[in-house]
Amino acid sequence: MVLRSFFRQSPPLLLYRSSKMSTSAFIVPIDPKAPSSVVPNVDLAKLWATVPRGEKVDVGTTRIFYDTPATKITAASSLGDNFATKKGEAKRELVRKSVGSAVKALKALDGLKEVTVDASVDPHASAVAAHLALYKFSLKTSPPSPFNPNLKSPIPPKLEIKAIESSKEWDRGVTYAYSQNLARTLMELPANMMTPTAFCERAKAEFAGIENVDIFVRDEDWAASKGMNTFLSVTHGTNEPAKFLEIHYKGAPQRDAQPIAFVGKGITFDSGGISLKPGDGMKLMRGDMGGAATVVSATLAIAKLKLPVNLITVTPLTENLPGPSATKPGDIIYAMNGKSVEVDNTDAEGRLVLSDAIYYASTEYKPHTLIDVATLTGAMVIALGEIFTGVFSTSDELWNRLHAAGEQEFDRFWRMPLSEEFGPQIYSSNADLCNTGGRPGGSCTAALFLKAFAYGIEAEDGSNAETAMKWAHLDIAGTMDTTRPTPYQENGMTGRPVRALIEYVRGLAN
Ligand code: BES
Ligand code: MN
Ligand code: ZN
Repeated sequence: MVLRSFFRQSPPLLLYRSSKMSTSAFIVPIDPKAPSSVVPNVDLAKLWATVPRGEKVDVGTTRIFYDTPATKITAASSLGDNFATKKGEAKRELVRKSVGSAVKALKALDGLKEVTVDASVDPHASAVAAHLALYKFSLKTSPPSPFNPNLKSPIPPKLEIKAIESSKEWDRGVTYAYSQNLARTLMELPANMMTPTAFCERAKAEFAGIENVDIFVRDEDWAASKGMNTFLSVTHGTNEPAKFLEIHYKGAPQRDAQPIAFVGKGITFDSGGISLKPGDGMKLMRGDMGGAATVVSATLAIAKLKLPVNLITVTPLTENLPGPSATKPGDIIYAMNGKSVEVDNTDAEGRLVLSDAIYYASTEYKPHTLIDVATLTGAMVIALGEIFTGVFSTSDELWNRLHAAGEQEFDRFWRMPLSEEFGPQIYSSNADLCNTGGRPGGSCTAALFLKAFAYGIEAEDGSNAETAMKWAHLDIAGTMDTTRPTPYQENGMTGRPVRALIEYVRGLAN
């Protein structure tokens, strides 16, 4: 038996290839203190014993064994030295890192077509990590990109990933990861390819054939007939037609059960409008529809998994450009709920499209819970960086459930203050509300602005607590993209918090 190996972390990376490159491989997450595996005919303990004694085997350290019998290639990836002592969330994250590292190492090999994962430690986390790690967005033409929107026929993934033993948990993980990767793609695709119209077309295509789903693509006339003037005020600077997408999923045992509502900010490009942004890094704003991308993608998984809930997902979609008819700083608009709003800064457009969308969803569908997701404020990036999504909520229970789901999926949330104490910053202009509140607490004033449009939420005195709509606003401006690769996620748009949203709904259903 020929054993060749390399260490993921040891630069320079030396890779010895066998002359006949094999096309299939196994991935085995391995506890270095107790190496074992279910891969047939492979004695992992014996192979792993070739790791020099005293070698650090941090989580993700991957050894690739070539020409192992029956399997050709086996990638053994460490779960970390202290795996056995870890529990729950910490343990799951080690599994993701281990499997993700192995996929990263294998996807660099030419000719490999198929990977089979020993997912027995945690099938759900293994499936998630393997499929997230494989993802890499590119529109380079050679080799042909699967992300090219003009493809005539789909290009299969570089590697086909399977589990050694099939399970519901593995399949569920595949569905979670598919949706997160879909959100990443929607966000990565440049604004010339991902217009409001293209977004709706893609959503329809993704939901094709899925049961209990109705999709409505509304146009600007429809929005005007509903009085969605703050939403429409953002559309005035562009010629690209705006859309208001609604996805209805009826999965509850009682068809008329009170729904959950998701609302997602869908700015397919945010130039800032007349309050134009600086050019540096402006292209990131192709992802300013991240709220819409993540709620639509989460909805897709929820419907595929047939979770027993009713769910209404709405996303206002438009570009924010400084065309000749654009809204100007100082303009005052009457929102759908009748409140007057001063547009002090046209770059604070997210709250303008969301205000009408949140009011519409909460009054039209009377959900028991409404969660909006938005790349809303630069201040959020400053506050929590790329690590935590900020959550502003009227409900402790909703916060607790979101927090638990985020920890479960390592798609983490941090609670932020939703307080009327910030009120003077946005209540002191010529109108009921001003769309900016100055730099201090910029994410908190934005959240408070949205609260004015969430119909039926808990009163300050708690008098309607029993019947009130639970509301949470998720500001993903910081977590929408990552500049540091992790073992199972490359740099770029993250698709967060898709997994946490799906997991939250799954938790509700149980
Ligand atoms: N889409 C941006 C927020 C953003 C910034 C998201 C950076 C992701 C990364 C939003 O529309 C915006 O421009 N917000 C302004 C609001 C301000 C003018 C009150 C901001 O945060 O600077
Ligand atoms: Mn903006
Ligand atoms: Zn924006």
